[in-house]
Amino acid sequence: MNSRIAQLRHAAAFVANHGIGGFSRELCHRCVNLYYERRLGVATAGRVKLTDIGVSRSDARDSMPIGYGAFFSIFKRIPLPKPDVVFLDFGVGKGRAVCAAATFPLKQIVGVELSEALAEVALFNIERMRHRKTMRIDIRRGDATELRLSRDVNLVYFFNPFAGDTLVKVVENIHRSHQEFPRKIYVIFFNNDHFDKVVRGEQWIKKIYQKTFYPRIACGVYETVSAALS
Ligand SMILES: C[S@@+](CC[C@H](N)C(=O)[O-])C[C@H]1O[C@@H](n2cnc3c(N)ncnc32)[C@H](O)[C@@H]1O
Repeated sequence: MNSRIAQLRHAAAFVANHGIGGFSRELCHRCVNLYYERRLGVATAGRVKLTDIGVSRSDARDSMPIGYGAFFSIFKRIPLPKPDVVFLDFGVGKGRAVCAAATFPLKQIVGVELSEALAEVALFNIERMRHRKTMRIDIRRGDATELRLSRDVNLVYFFNPFAGDTLVKVVENIHRSHQEFPRKIYVIFFNNDHFDKVVRGEQWIKKIYQKTFYPRIACGVYETVSAALS
């Protein structure tokens, strides 16, 4: 009973601060997330402060899941046949983006996660998820800067996992992979301010799409450019 009253108070405070329109958007956002969590049978919600789980890296961002609505909306814009897609998630967290991607029949999904504890949660979610259509899923524990992209990775995904030198090194690795094995690589980057600065002026990659999703999450989609392919 007390918790119901607390929820009502919380809702009233939200309406007072954001208006009825803001409240409806938030409600819709939460319902969509809840719907997919139930449908897939996974538990990927909630923010995790990395320092609370013993990870302290100045470049690393805390773990929080992407909204399912935003993920599916941007994913469907990638012009690759699903069975050809090798999807790489830098910073897997509890595995929401991996599970959402795995509802499509992709060739392979690879993910890397710095926190051992979060990687365990992600694996648990992946193993028990329903409606899984990608069978090859490989989750690695470790630092994103040390991951060498295999030659067939063609869709790279980031939801604000890190900035600074870590992001610069990861972008160099993507560039190197593209130079060694020229191909179209698409990059989806949620919260892409830092990424935009890192690739500004680069000739090998260009932005093809930009959209802002609720709640104020900007997303850029990029594709590699090479003389041989363009
Ligand atoms: C915002 S969460 C993204 C969660 C998930 N990809 C999604 O879209 O729902 C960012 C994750 O990146 C991880 N991360 C931060 N720095 C990292 C690094 N250097 N290497 C690998 N993972 C890292 C964090 O531990 C965190 O779980």
